[in-house]
Amino acid sequence: SAAEKGGYDYFMLKEIAEQPKAVADTLLGRIDLAGNLCLDEVRIPASVLREVTKVVIVACGTAYHAGMIAKYAIEHWTRIPCETELASEFRYRDPILDQRTLVIAISQSGETMDTLMALRHAREQGAKVLAICNTNGSTIPRESDAVLYTHAGPEVAVASTKAFLTQLVACYLVALYLGQVRGTKWGDEILSVIRELSEIATQVDEVLETMEPVRELARTLADKNTVLFLGRHVGFPVALEGALKLKELAYMHAEGFAAGELKHGPIALIEQDVPVVVVVPSPRGRSVLHDKIVSNIQEIRARGARTIVIAERGDAAVAPYADHLIEIPVTPTLLQPLVATVPLQVFACELATARGNEVDQPRNLAKSVTVE
Ligand code: AGP
Repeated sequence: SAAEKGGYDYFMLKEIAEQPKAVADTLLGRIDLAGNLCLDEVRIPASVLREVTKVVIVACGTAYHAGMIAKYAIEHWTRIPCETELASEFRYRDPILDQRTLVIAISQSGETMDTLMALRHAREQGAKVLAICNTNGSTIPRESDAVLYTHAGPEVAVASTKAFLTQLVACYLVALYLGQVRGTKWGDEILSVIRELSEIATQVDEVLETMEPVRELARTLADKNTVLFLGRHVGFPVALEGALKLKELAYMHAEGFAAGELKHGPIALIEQDVPVVVVVPSPRGRSVLHDKIVSNIQEIRARGARTIVIAERGDAAVAPYADHLIEIPVTPTLLQPLVATVPLQVFACELATARGNEVDQPRNLAKSVTVE
């Protein structure tokens, strides 16, 4: 009913709007004023976490994209080798796991069969399993050694939005916690990340305030057949997520690529007027990546692409090559997905509406996939 949707036309719109609160709730009480991580609820003893030699993340769909981003954070902040794998592929290739492997299973519903089978396999091999889950008492946390709950609240729309942002927050918390427990020397970078995490809900809110031009743009693209998405570093999984949202909701051909792969094939897809959404890393810090993506944008634009550029506010170097510029707040590189994904959710939702599709219940999809 309309009341359940809180005055919004669709659950998805309501859930997109709830993201600042979902993010804040997931952080609540988990970082103290001194910047220490308080994750006692992760009931895997510190002595075990100190011995971990490898982290393996398993998940499906949107949760897998959160896991891809987590890999960048975990390896960069903790120096523990980390791999992220589609849960449906995992157990069939006989992965190498032992008592010193920490497996992280990410799932909104906690009922996804592929993820459940992956974690069962991991536990059979002696690995410890930590679930990141949004549903209290669901099967995945029940069968795991420990759980860190995301506090997104119930997610009804089939297309995952607020759960994704909270999965990212939970992954960052776990990464920082692993570092803390293992006595990783916190440099200025990590201290500033912890500080910025406490600001991030406000920044997500700022993004939501500036979405009208994104909706207008989406409506003008309703008759397109294809939209491409490019990103690199943590912007790559964001590009994949943008493409997945568009497939699910708008039933359009949408593909995400690592921008560095363009020349290895995908650039052949670029033709006159094809919309290409590009997620641009911050010009600060690892500016090499930024400069490389700016030249990618020039290359595709020279071949006729219509460039839709998501870039940090004040990024003057990229602006001249953007047919449409979507500005997002300044954040540390690894946290950028929390703000960069939001315009892509709004974009997909509006395009679906413009095409007359059912936003909350896309065709052929179920909210949780409980069969393999
Ligand atoms: C995302 O929009 C999806 N509908 C889907 O990819 C989902 O993320 C995936 O099925 C995993 O679900 P889970 O988080 O409940 O395990």
